[in-house]
Amino acid sequence: MQIVLSVGGSSINPDGKPDLDFLRTIARIIKKSKHSFGILTGGGTVARAYANAARELGAGEYECDSIAITSTRQNAQLVIAALSTQEIDVHKKALFDFDEARIASDKKVVVMGGTIPGITTDTDAVLLGEAVGAKRLVNISNVDAIYDSDPKKNPNAKKYQKMNYEQLISLSLASDKRMAGTNFVFDMLACKLISRSKIEAHFVSGKNSNDMENAIEGKKHGGTIVGE
Ligand code: UTP
Repeated sequence: MQIVLSVGGSSINPDGKPDLDFLRTIARIIKKSKHSFGILTGGGTVARAYANAARELGAGEYECDSIAITSTRQNAQLVIAALSTQEIDVHKKALFDFDEARIASDKKVVVMGGTIPGITTDTDAVLLGEAVGAKRLVNISNVDAIYDSDPKKNPNAKKYQKMNYEQLISLSLASDKRMAGTNFVFDMLACKLISRSKIEAHFVSGKNSNDMENAIEGKKHGGTIVGE
């Protein structure tokens, strides 16, 4: 497994509805690629809606996270359907355990959903990367790069083409709330893990197929590269 993809629910099921164009694009890029992949799927708005509903009903954070995890697993199985119908050599069952993913890594693609409450699929993606010794991680979300502030709120936000792990950790610390279904740039634990393992991370948008493909193939792209 050479490349780990952390695919946000914002790309798989924006507004709660699966995006078939995105799913077909990912399948096309992976089919063309010579690399092997581990994919982590986020839960997006569906995960957040269910976690928030449980919270309003009075459920604790562990339970809210457990509910959100089921959304990530549903998306994992959907990605498997998108790949297997294109005759890509993908492990047919969504996995939730890093060792099982490692064992299944004779396949071109292994897809995982969330694992345990308290973390996010960003962290799962880095842990999978560590488990299999991946050299590159590509984070696919609804923003085209990492900015010094939220580009949706601040039109003067500065885009980073390159940054180091310390800069990434500082930015993520500023937005880390650690609540079920909340959104992080790349959550703080994921940033720390990626820093300790020196996995090169690329941040691109799920709306930009060229950037996704170039990041996956190790070519120049318009997103952000995080390294030493
Ligand atoms: P994510 O936060 O990873 O999905 O998981 P997302 O919103 O699609 O993520 P990004 O930011 O776009 O990458 C959804 C929720 O599921 C729970 C957490 O509550 C998380 O916020 N979760 C996920 C866990 O508790 N453990 C996991 O291993 C994964």
